[in-house]
Amino acid sequence: MLSASVRQFVCPTRGLSVSVARQRSEGPAGGPQARGFEEIPHTGSNGYINLFRFLKEDRFSSLHKYMEKSFNALGPIYRYRGEGPALGHCYAASDIMELFQAEGLNPQRMTVQPWAAHRETRKHSKGIFLKNGAEWRADRILMNKEVMLSSAVSLFLPPLDEVARDFCQILRRRVEAEGRRSLTLDPSPDLFRFALEASCHVLYGERIGLFSPSPSLESQHFISALERMLATTTPLLYLPSKLLITLHAPLWTQHATAWDVIFSHADARIQKVYQKLQSKHRQAGSSGHSPDNQEAFSGVLEQLIEKGQLSLELIKANITELMAGAVDTTAVPLQFALFELARNPGIQEMVRRQVQSSWASAEGDPQKALQGAPLLKNTVKEILRMYPVGITVQRYPVRDIIIQNYHIPAGTLVQACLYPMGRSEDVFREAGIFKPTRWEKSEQRGFLSLAFGFGARQCVGRRIADNEMQLLLFHILLNFQLSVSSTDNIKTKYTLILQPETPPRITFTLL
Ligand code: HEM
Repeated sequence: MLSASVRQFVCPTRGLSVSVARQRSEGPAGGPQARGFEEIPHTGSNGYINLFRFLKEDRFSSLHKYMEKSFNALGPIYRYRGEGPALGHCYAASDIMELFQAEGLNPQRMTVQPWAAHRETRKHSKGIFLKNGAEWRADRILMNKEVMLSSAVSLFLPPLDEVARDFCQILRRRVEAEGRRSLTLDPSPDLFRFALEASCHVLYGERIGLFSPSPSLESQHFISALERMLATTTPLLYLPSKLLITLHAPLWTQHATAWDVIFSHADARIQKVYQKLQSKHRQAGSSGHSPDNQEAFSGVLEQLIEKGQLSLELIKANITELMAGAVDTTAVPLQFALFELARNPGIQEMVRRQVQSSWASAEGDPQKALQGAPLLKNTVKEILRMYPVGITVQRYPVRDIIIQNYHIPAGTLVQACLYPMGRSEDVFREAGIFKPTRWEKSEQRGFLSLAFGFGARQCVGRRIADNEMQLLLFHILLNFQLSVSSTDNIKTKYTLILQPETPPRITFTLL
């Protein structure tokens, strides 16, 4: 069984899996040959000097590039002694598989401390993003049913499709204004609004009108709170939350009050849905009929309240985390996708041909439409290889593991570094080239597409995100030719997520 799974995930050029399998069969610490943890190559022996260099050179915003450089200099595994515990980074597919197999029943990753501090100071419950252990597992199983199962996907595809079509229709009108045929713009603010509108439709079952020239005050308040919460998270990651809270530091106050607005937005939705369900049940009671469960999808929130398996407090905690995780994560890869399709007209045309022929036979059904355009799915996969939203996935293995013949004790924080892995010629042939068709080849399958994380703790919103991005690109390709004035590589920076240093300007020409 073990050797079968190892063969399946074999690293294309390194061929490490055989030695991993042999080490595993030799006992918990991999036998006498395994070298000690302290022997792992590292980026500098003094943590304070490392931290000083990081601050001085502003390495945080280029952390992904720094990791890539460190792998090139130190090999496929290295330790970083910058702050607190030593971190092991690894990037070869077979090493990551080893880590994944030791993640245990309740996998754990690094906490986003400012978010956790907000819940603790405001006495709110935490949701699956912030919880650990058995509590995490109990909520996660219930959340999976609402957003991960294929039965759930077929329910939320139509609302996602509706928002994607509206986006394109409005963009079309903007292009056509004053008799034009094309328009060049930075689409990033529009994509942010698209992602938020789509998330609200799926999660709250509600359109909040962000495409309108004058969105409601409540929606404007909500969008600016979400932007403020995300913008203040990154600097807070590197500062001691407890001290900032004690000092009432403005940065912390801004962060916490932004979260408060997001929570009260969720609260209002919960009250609305709760009352709606109560009146539905009252009506059903007086008519003697049981409430109709076959109604159209009315949002994840309503489904959770209707089922009543999570308390309202836990529903609020989870739905708010989903909302916070849903916006930038999809809006930013869409910027990269538009850019790569625009600067690779041959690939754009190939994907468009598939999209057009799929659309012609899908009869307006979004599920059929996407099924008929596998190249579009691979386009999203390829974008996330080149520009992974989160540059690492972290785990604390529950047992000792051997990676690259080094012994890593249970409980060590280990990071699978997705950005250097996606850019490594050792892992992907022609790694610098945007080539969605690479995912059709059997040797590129397996443990290489990791942008959504892995195992039981993988991104719970991946089905929403994947379908949302595909549907928007689908309708954009049906409507517009994309082009860019410069085909230079896009420079990236790391904040909480990987994003363009300067958002690319894209020309949308009517087809
Ligand atoms: C392209 C878009 C996205 C990417 C690349 C992404 C990536 C990730 C990654 C890497 C993780 C950590 C997984 C792990 O530790 O194995 C994660 C967790 C999570 N994501 Fe996403 N995400 C995306 C979109 C979304 C969306 C749309 C939502 C909400 C609808 C969402 C909600 C969450 C939540 C709640 C978790 C925590 C899950 C848990 O700990 O059980 N994400 N995401």
